[in-house]
Amino acid sequence: MAQGTGFGKTILFGEHFVVYGLPAIASAIGDKTIATVEKSSRFELVDNRPATSGYKEKKSGEISRQIEALLSHFNIDRKNSPVRITLSGSLFCTSGVGASAALATSISRALNDMLGLGMDDEGINKAAYIAECAGTGKASGIDNTCSTFGGLLWFKKNLEGGANTMDRLVAKGPVEIVLGNTGITQETKAVVGDVAKEREKDPETYRRIFSDYSSLVNEAKSALTEGDWVRAGRLMDQNQELLRKITVSCDELEQLIKLVKDNGALGAKLTGTGRGGYMIALTPGKELQEKVASAMESAGFKALRTVVG
Ligand code: PMV
Repeated sequence: MAQGTGFGKTILFGEHFVVYGLPAIASAIGDKTIATVEKSSRFELVDNRPATSGYKEKKSGEISRQIEALLSHFNIDRKNSPVRITLSGSLFCTSGVGASAALATSISRALNDMLGLGMDDEGINKAAYIAECAGTGKASGIDNTCSTFGGLLWFKKNLEGGANTMDRLVAKGPVEIVLGNTGITQETKAVVGDVAKEREKDPETYRRIFSDYSSLVNEAKSALTEGDWVRAGRLMDQNQELLRKITVSCDELEQLIKLVKDNGALGAKLTGTGRGGYMIALTPGKELQEKVASAMESAGFKALRTVVG
């Protein structure tokens, strides 16, 4: 039986700004998806991953396209040499944590292991990216890169259509975080579209916001690589202020942010699409992490305790 793993991810700085060619910082999180692959009498996918209700049903088409792309990439004929793929692991599948990339990466690693191909991480990342594109039609590559290599990633989209910049950062981590789920699902495309409309209405204000963000993200890179968590937290708060200005926060996110800040989180912001989805709180040390996560749970929110960096 062959096995492979893939990390989940979270965006620490720069969702939405990244769409306009500004840098973002993402990180793998400690939770992973595990794939096992074994020969079988017929093709089978057993999905034992923990997931938010309705996630697997909603994603079934995307998952099938990813699997087909992977079987084809690894030259596996599902009729003549069928396999059973079993998915498990601690990564709780929901929007915004890179679950689909973790699936693609873990299966790529398991197939590589089974076939004895000796692929390196670059090869695994490429296979996972192909599967990501097959699943969603278009992918930036940020999720599969975090999922494959782990750690922190400095990402800059190439607006001319060429290769994106993806530099791995060496952080002083891992550092504890808590992810809080608002329970609201948003479609990324719609929210990104709204921001574009707002920007067209008021280009001067957006120019100032983008310029503030550019300085902030460079400072964030130093704070994370130096392990200056107090400064990193303050910069997360400032990033959230800019995200509010571009209209992607919402009452539930603000409620969560206030709650975690009142309980000692060093910084907090939305992560991913916004107007719902996830909030990320920086909580160095197990004690602070537990205090913040418990406060969230007492208020009725789901909390994911994990690490970044
Ligand atoms: O919600 P997620 O984790 O898929 O992140 C979306 C990030 C955006 O910047 C809003 C969109 C994008 O394609 O980068």
